[in-house]
Amino acid sequence: MDSIVVRGGRELNGRIDIAGAKNAALALMPATLLSEEPLTLTNTPRLSDIKTMTALLQSLGAEVTALQDGKVQVLSSHGLTSTRADYEIVRKMRASNLVLGPLLARFHEATVSLPGGCAIGARPMDIHVSALEAMGAEIELRDGYLHAKARGGLKGAVVPLRFASVGATENVLMAATLAKGTTVIENAAREPEIVDLADCLRAMGAQIAGDGTSTITVQGVDRLGAATHRVVTDRIELGTYMLAPVIAGGEVECIGGRIALVEAFAAKLDAAGVDVTETPDGLKVKRRLERPRAVDVTTEPFPGFPTDLQAQMMAMLCIAEGTSVLEEKIFENRFMHAPELVRMGADIDVQGGVATVTGVDRLKGAPVMATDLRASVSLILSGLAAQGETIVNRVYHLDRGYENVEDKLSAVGADIERVQGT
Ligand code: EPZ
Repeated sequence: MDSIVVRGGRELNGRIDIAGAKNAALALMPATLLSEEPLTLTNTPRLSDIKTMTALLQSLGAEVTALQDGKVQVLSSHGLTSTRADYEIVRKMRASNLVLGPLLARFHEATVSLPGGCAIGARPMDIHVSALEAMGAEIELRDGYLHAKARGGLKGAVVPLRFASVGATENVLMAATLAKGTTVIENAAREPEIVDLADCLRAMGAQIAGDGTSTITVQGVDRLGAATHRVVTDRIELGTYMLAPVIAGGEVECIGGRIALVEAFAAKLDAAGVDVTETPDGLKVKRRLERPRAVDVTTEPFPGFPTDLQAQMMAMLCIAEGTSVLEEKIFENRFMHAPELVRMGADIDVQGGVATVTGVDRLKGAPVMATDLRASVSLILSGLAAQGETIVNRVYHLDRGYENVEDKLSAVGADIERVQGT
């Protein structure tokens, strides 16, 4: 397994290109199952999770052709041969469950393995199941698989979500495009990735309104056609790289960034003493003070502070002036980066879903372990300003969601390299 070695103490200056959003692409790719016409995606990120979704769609008999070094994908489910998403692939990536809605909508059946829990939580699928059942699906859990049928196809319905689940909103949104009649999703997730998916589905001929708000209305149609869609900029990669100059010093322009993608996050950076300026090309970030100030953070569904930026924010708060309270309200176990940061000298007290962080002058480099995607990048961010060398092990977590971290950070002055694993 590869490791990444960071030697701290260098200021960062320059431009970092932000890629297309992993969490948009992972919902856009299964949308190909809704139509027999080709779907072309541009600005697709080159990540191992995208490779996993490609393998899953190909296991169903769909065609996925990568062009331009993977930045463009042409997908077609014209020759689909299976509606069974196997455990061997699904266990690697929860987002595999996003084939459930489209398969049910177009083929009236699906057999999808439960993803199983992951490092950050149990991550059940009850909201997906009850929503699709409200649309007439019969879903039985047997031998670790969801066996779903929609005799005569799905029917439009009013679908209240008990929690604004991103994945459940995406599954229901895709399913509703081909259902008979009108579907109203209540308490829908409002993330930009939902709007991006709706934009793509509309380009395919779907009739959707209200995406980006808590109530989405979909008028079912008989079939969807071909489309070309550009994947929206990745707001989590954006927020991650915005924190790099805040932690290490200097000024970095994140190309492709827009304030609208990270409003709650940018407001917290401003409170911490950081200037975020929107330029024609992106977002320029520079701290106003020698050390950022402590701020309190609570993670919430969009437009609140994103849980996917919680670990990265903690890395910054570890060296901020003062004490911060970080509350994680989306996942039940998403502080696994805390003990690793403590190994680097951070002062963090975790009680259940609340972490109290008292900033220290400087962290000390140490060998640390990546546990999940966002935790791994928070350790790299910490290494940028830590005294000495930080070795982040198990970086396969990192490669799931970040293109060439070491190249992007070394291009703006970081002393960082990837060491091939044994
Ligand atoms: C999406 O996961 C993202 N993944 C996650 O990003 C992100 O953290 C999460 O949304 C929240 O924003 C993708 O888009 C591929 P949820 P998802 O359904 O859809 C509970 C990353 O780092 N829940 O909104 O799985 C669930 O357990 C990843 O890129 C149920 O209880 O998130 C969790 O506590 C990590 N029952 C909460 O809701 C359900 O049926 C949020 O889950 C579904 C969810």
